[in-house]
Amino acid sequence: MTYDVAAVRGRFPALAEGAAHFDGPGGSQVPVDVAEAVAAAMVAATSNRGRVTAAERRADAVVAEARLALGDLLGADPGGIVLGRSMTQLTYDFARTLAGDWGPGDEVVVTRLDHDGNVRPWVQAAEAAGATVRWAEFDRETAVLPVSAVTDVLSPRTRLVAVTGASNLLGTKPDIAAITAAAHEVGALAYVDGVHLTPHAVVNVRALGADFFVCSQYKFLGPHLGALAADPALLETLRPTKLEPSMNAVPERFEFGTLPYEVLAGSTAAVGFLAGLVPGEGTRRERLVRSITALHEHETVLRDRLDTGLRALPRVHVYGDPARDRTPTALFTVDGIPPGVVYERLALAGVNASAGSFYAIEAARSLGIQDTGAVRAGIAPYTDESDVDRLLTGMAEITA
Ligand SMILES: Cc1ncc(COP(=O)(O)O)c(C=O)c1O
Repeated sequence: MTYDVAAVRGRFPALAEGAAHFDGPGGSQVPVDVAEAVAAAMVAATSNRGRVTAAERRADAVVAEARLALGDLLGADPGGIVLGRSMTQLTYDFARTLAGDWGPGDEVVVTRLDHDGNVRPWVQAAEAAGATVRWAEFDRETAVLPVSAVTDVLSPRTRLVAVTGASNLLGTKPDIAAITAAAHEVGALAYVDGVHLTPHAVVNVRALGADFFVCSQYKFLGPHLGALAADPALLETLRPTKLEPSMNAVPERFEFGTLPYEVLAGSTAAVGFLAGLVPGEGTRRERLVRSITALHEHETVLRDRLDTGLRALPRVHVYGDPARDRTPTALFTVDGIPPGVVYERLALAGVNASAGSFYAIEAARSLGIQDTGAVRAGIAPYTDESDVDRLLTGMAEITA
């Protein structure tokens, strides 16, 4: 089934402003379907969750549907979907909880490729517990984190491996199944940051072997929200600090305060929108797999057009190795022109591709670009060939 990007674009009112959006890795644009679902949830009678009034049952249903939808998207048990404000908030919460039984001599593995949201919470929790942090380094030329970089720092004392499913800076995708298997072999848990992977790949949390998998809906056409997937049996073993009267059941035990029902309705609509990117029958999971596979093909064609075009320009340096498995995300600099200036000049040409290190501060330090950063261009479901050509034309003018 071919991917009809014009039809997809037609659902995004924001595109009427005219910019070519390469800022998706920071946060994607939102289809009208998601906005309508949020509005509908807000104008319908809703109360705290419960079973007596229609308003209570509506709140209950919104939460249950959000878990089911995310379970379908991630290939995960809906009973183990924890909803939170963001990936960062969820990771801090889980780091505090998991570190509760770490002590001196225990070890935690983090990587230099990761967004700081999957680094600092673990480093700080380890420090507080007196545990040791061990770092897995990526290859600066290829931007690849080899499995051996992680296995080299594993030991029988490793309690947790925190690793990204895909780098939000460089796009490369570590071999998560191999890394989680190695972590399990030494008795460690694997915490996978799926924020940059989920918008671009069919995710199957079980096949990845992730004990915890986190994502953020606002990166895949949804509202600002985060979700964590885990086996409910594993969640049952954990005891977060919580309010006395709040539910102790899993996954509610990990959700603090009243959930944002309207945003959850938007989250479910985003999953539904992704499932319908290409027409077809089947369960929502089947439609998601078909649609995201088609999206992947669409994005890969555009990624290669962008990558080849950028590499053909004089003075442009594109990070990483185009032959490696990666998301449709390009990071580049121009000799003699600061990334911030390239960013501003592209913006004047109606092309949104910002510059920075995008919170992947350890990766930026490894590459020596922590001060100035680099320009990042990410392809999203609504990106078309003319967007890519606008970026390339803008870059040709900047480098002329
Ligand atoms: C790879 C990656 N991990 C984590 C985060 C943090 O996500 P959140 O804003 O939901 O805390 C981001 C956000 O840019 C990201 O790209």
